[in-house]
Order: sequence, then C-alpha cells, then structure tokens
Amino acid sequence: MNNQPEIVLECKNIRKSVDALSQSDNSEPLTILKAIDLQVKSGQSLAIVGASGSGKTTLLSILAGLDSPTNGEIYLKGLPLHQYDEEQRSQVRAAHVGFIFQSFLLINSLTALENVMLPAELANDNDAQRKAKEMLDKVGLGDRIDHYPSQLSGGEQQRVAIARAFIANPDILFADEPTGNLDRNTGNTITELLFELNQQQGTTLILVTHDLKLAERCQVQMTMDAGEFVQQSAPVELQVSQG
Ligand SMILES: Nc1ncnc2c1ncn2[C@@H]1O[C@H](COP(=O)(O)OP(=O)(O)OP(=O)(O)O)[C@@H](O)[C@H]1O
Ligand SMILES: [Mg+2]
Repeated sequence: MNNQPEIVLECKNIRKSVDALSQSDNSEPLTILKAIDLQVKSGQSLAIVGASGSGKTTLLSILAGLDSPTNGEIYLKGLPLHQYDEEQRSQVRAAHVGFIFQSFLLINSLTALENVMLPAELANDNDAQRKAKEMLDKVGLGDRIDHYPSQLSGGEQQRVAIARAFIANPDILFADEPTGNLDRNTGNTITELLFELNQQQGTTLILVTHDLKLAERCQVQMTMDAGEFVQQSAPVELQVSQG
C-alpha cells in the first residue's frame, strides 16, 4: 500500500482583500486574509478555530471554490482553482466537494428526500433516489423522507444537510459550524455522524468550529487570528491511518 497520502488541497500565500465600505476617497481596501499556507492530505480531518471575525468562513469559502482569493494559489486535487472562473469552479465543486453550512440551507419547498437527491440529480445520476434514501437511512431519517424542512427539528435538518453533502461521495467535505445551532446532545450526534462518514467513505474533513469537542476529534487543529494562522497542532506524521 502507498504510505504517502495524496495532497488533496494545497494553498500558497492566499490573500483576500475587499473594498472598504467607507465612501471616503482615501479608504484602503480591507484585508481579510493574509499569507495563508495550507496542505491537507487525503482522508485527513482538520479543524479551523479562532475568534469571530478572524476570517474562518472567508477562508473556507475560498478553499471550497465558492469564492476566489485576491492573490495566491489554490489547488484542489491538483486543479488550479485560482485560475478558474465561476463556471469552472462550479464543475470542480460538483465533482469533488460537499459543503455543510451553519444554517443548513435546505430548500423549504422540497422534501428531505428531494433535498438530498438534488446534487445527484444535478450530476445526472440516474440512481439519485435510491442513493438519497440510503443516505437518509444512514443519518437515521429513513422514516422522515417525505417531510419538509419546516416539519423537522434543527438537528434533523442538519442531518438532512449532511446526507445531501455526502450523497455525491465528495473527496472533501467542508463544514462551517456544523454543530453551531444545535444543543449539545444533538451536536454530539452530528459529530459522530461526520466522523463515521469520514471513516466509511474516506472523505477529507475541513471544519470551522467553536465547538472544542468537535475540534479535538480532528487530527489537526489550526487557529486563525486576524486573517492568519497562529499555531498548528501535532505533526502530521502522527496520523498514521489504521486501515
Ligand atoms: N464581503 C465582505 N465585505 C467586507 N467585509 C467582509 C466581507 N466578508 C467578510 N468580511 C469581514 O471579514 C472578516 C472575517 O469574516 P469571516 O466571516 O470570515 O469571519 P469568521 O472567522 O467566520 O467569523 P465568525 O466566527 O463570526 O463566523 C470580518 O471582519 C468580516 O466583517
Ligand atoms: Mg464564520
């Protein structure tokens, strides 16, 4: 077996700045991210922590190809996202990326089953319905497939969002505060589920969280402060897979 896990995500000197909102003539652009370097190996789990406003969501959006950096290079499975336009990035996302948001972002007019099927249908998967049922079973909602988001609790909606994120079997799953809106017990269930799917499907996990328990479950923790990483946990060499 190959002992050198593949690098699935790499960024070099990522910077993000936006125009200042102030109307004054001499307003400088606002720097949100500065000089971010990162390498993530296949199957690894990484937690990004840090104070509110430190740039975590901005970074996650760039890593997932939802937004583009002002400067720097970013490679997802070797693909140079920084050179791609929105159309090309959306193709990369469809093929390789799953995303879970803090606020679930389910479509209210679709049932649980239809929400989960959507990414697979968009990818023209003829087997979308069977796979969606299987994923909903996995997250413990096999008996709620015809219910709409408004008929589900917050924890149940988050489980639907997880099923949706995993249906296309993504190489990398990004999650922004996946337990942020949930009580502790439900949060723990969601955490277990994320790591179960990480193990079963070999999915790389990149999480932003304020939940220390969730962060500690990850192999690597990185802390952001004012748009930069300030510390890194144990070296990657310690994380030998047990397969
Ligand atoms: N489009 C934008 N225009 C102006 N400022 C922005 C924009 N997007 C983000 N910011 C600012 O950049 C900083 C980082 O925002 P970001 O949402 O990445 O923080 P965060 O670490 O995710 O915070 P939280 O923990 O509260 O979610 C904040 O000061 C925010 O106001
Ligand atoms: Mg955020």
